[in-house]
Amino acid sequence: MNKIRHFKSLLDINKKEFLKIIERAIAIKTEMTKGIKHNKLSGKTMAMIFKKNSTRTRVAFETAMVNMGGHAIFLSSDSTQLSRGENLSDTSKVLSGMVDIIMVRTHNHDEINQLAKSSSVPVINGLTEKFHPCQLLADMQTYYEEKGSIEGKQIAWIGDGCNMCNSYINAAKILNFNLKIATPSGFEPDKATLNLAKDNVELCDLPGKAVENCDLVTTDVWTSMGDEGESERRKSLFKGYQINQNLLEKAKSDAIFLHCLPAHREEEVTSEVIDGPSSRVWQQAHNRLYTSMALIEFLLLTD
Ligand code: CP
Ligand code: NVA
Repeated sequence: MNKIRHFKSLLDINKKEFLKIIERAIAIKTEMTKGIKHNKLSGKTMAMIFKKNSTRTRVAFETAMVNMGGHAIFLSSDSTQLSRGENLSDTSKVLSGMVDIIMVRTHNHDEINQLAKSSSVPVINGLTEKFHPCQLLADMQTYYEEKGSIEGKQIAWIGDGCNMCNSYINAAKILNFNLKIATPSGFEPDKATLNLAKDNVELCDLPGKAVENCDLVTTDVWTSMGDEGESERRKSLFKGYQINQNLLEKAKSDAIFLHCLPAHREEEVTSEVIDGPSSRVWQQAHNRLYTSMALIEFLLLTD
């Protein structure tokens, strides 16, 4: 029997596998526009545990399973025994005896590690406070579709050093691109994650410096899920970190703008930018479906 592969962070896959998932996602997208579908996951079930809200991740994974002939079960923490004290480890032992794959969105990244340890089926990280690896698959698919290989390119991350930023750092290391990060002081990304990618990442004190001549500008909300209590404080601290037309003009003239969404318009990004000619955010959001399909195939159907 093959060893179970989990997808707890991007560090669970190597460069070849990352590129294979993106290529497969692009192929699936083409197949689907031609109406070609397959039922390779007929009879297979995914359990999706959500301890935090979601629009894209839930719809992408549920639709991905259905598109491949399988089935997905949405489990919110409120409606399961998780809200009455059953821990994720015990939940995972039970679920993995019944389903073929588990996706979980939760607060603490350690919970993903515990869950994966107790699971006899693959576990996918659908976002923790530390990483959001599934989103990076869609971001990288979008970059490849628009501009080809990202290797050696210049990417700017502006704003909070949050789960998305940490996953960009992982991607920079694996796919070998240069990432310049500008965050307000005290909101830098995870130190251990940075240390693993020293050759690919540079911290800049000013957003303009990070964006200068870059090929891709990206950001995320200033207040992630779980940090809501800090929202007002962050709004004033992050003021100079908004992606607006002035800042975008420092990037290469053909640079693209990505945002994992949901966006808080006029905070981290202006409507002028998100709705403007450089933005690829809707394509990026739709690519969540194709990368979810490619990831599930990779975890369940690779020999
Ligand atoms: N980008 C993303 O993960 O969106 P959701 O929170 O809607 O799933
Ligand atoms: N950083 C955001 C990403 C949402 C998809 C959050 O964790 O809320």
